[in-house]
Amino acid sequence: MSLKIRKGVPLIDQHDRNGMWGGKFGGNYIPETLKKPIDDLEKLFSKLRKDKKFIEERDYYFKNYVGSPTPFIRLDNLTDYLGGAQVWAKVVSENPGTAHKIYSCIVHCLIAKRSGKRYVCTDTGAGMQGKNLAMVAKKFGLKCKIFMGIRDIERQQKNVIVMKKYGAEVVPVTSGSQTLVDAVSECMRYWVANCDSVHMVIGSTVGPCIFVKISGYSTSQISRELKVQLFEEFGKIPSKLKLLNCVGGGSSAYGFWSEFIDYDKNQIELIGVEAGGSKKSKLHAAPLSNNSKLGILHGAKAYCIQDSDGQIGETESLSSGLDYPSVSPLHCFLKDTGRARYTSATDEEALNAYKLVSEMENISPSLEPSHAFATAISLAPKLSKDTVICVDSCGHSLKDSEIIKSKLGFYTE
Ligand SMILES: Cc1ncc(COP(=O)(O)O)c(C=O)c1O
Repeated sequence: MSLKIRKGVPLIDQHDRNGMWGGKFGGNYIPETLKKPIDDLEKLFSKLRKDKKFIEERDYYFKNYVGSPTPFIRLDNLTDYLGGAQVWAKVVSENPGTAHKIYSCIVHCLIAKRSGKRYVCTDTGAGMQGKNLAMVAKKFGLKCKIFMGIRDIERQQKNVIVMKKYGAEVVPVTSGSQTLVDAVSECMRYWVANCDSVHMVIGSTVGPCIFVKISGYSTSQISRELKVQLFEEFGKIPSKLKLLNCVGGGSSAYGFWSEFIDYDKNQIELIGVEAGGSKKSKLHAAPLSNNSKLGILHGAKAYCIQDSDGQIGETESLSSGLDYPSVSPLHCFLKDTGRARYTSATDEEALNAYKLVSEMENISPSLEPSHAFATAISLAPKLSKDTVICVDSCGHSLKDSEIIKSKLGFYTE
């Protein structure tokens, strides 16, 4: 199969019979015991996507619980300071869950209810996925279990407190690097043993094909809103537009871009920013921008950081949400087709970007979107004033206040 994007079809639906994009990325590398639950979930989801009542319910919660649309604002001070392209932000973090994860948590909980399951489980790194699932599960009367590496439990204490407040059980994961990659593995192991009664929610556009689809379907709400907001602000889609998003697993970036993938890349450039790790270390969490090789992780084939034996490699990032050795098959496909380009920002660059943005503007991006702001800050001065850069500010910094204070000596909310 040639690596070509089909116009007019959502990218989440452009996989083949084996659940692979371009015949190369994604798929279902799963144990035999999961074949039936995954088949059932695929059937249910494809039915629900055509179900008027399900769509009405989804839209009701997006509007009345998330508060959609989230703001789209011009960062006047930052734009003047940088002296080039206009810099705008889609402030997705302005929702009760303070991150984009709220969209897929709502959709997954609606699916769990339709399938008659009373238990949900998920993985979390930055704690945003855990916090959002705990919140939404509580609202929908579901019991919630969250797997989190102990390293992330230490770094993201604030979100752990919120998860527990909403009654979720937080399961500390002590294996491997004790971060997101191990949390996802542990959550999948739990689901394999309990899939009759538990609905699993994967925190990003990763995992077996159906989980990539549900996550991308949910976060697409962000670009649907942005499209309307661009027309409201400019009367049209700007002729020079750059959409910048951080990329961990890639759910936020896919959701921010999905409505714009069919546009010409000379009009709308899609730029994904991965975590480059510390300047002092060789480790990073940026498989796409470092040309990592194809590997299989968490049920899918994708570019993965690997050691010389092909084992999943070590990663490092100050930002727990981006600290993952692989990436969504959707982004591997977007990279190989040339539709999106991927770069990385270091921990230090992200911290400096956080400092500049939070001091100049009334927004406070978490460390994950601060990576995208870092790239925006370096690009804007080189671009013309009629270029519009829009950054997805997909998470709020409150969860990172201790890390930021320890690195910068202050924290501005
Ligand atoms: C605020 C925030 N942004 C980005 C990410 C990275 O995930 P993804 O690439 O799936 O959006 C996370 C993950 O936890 C997050 O919490």
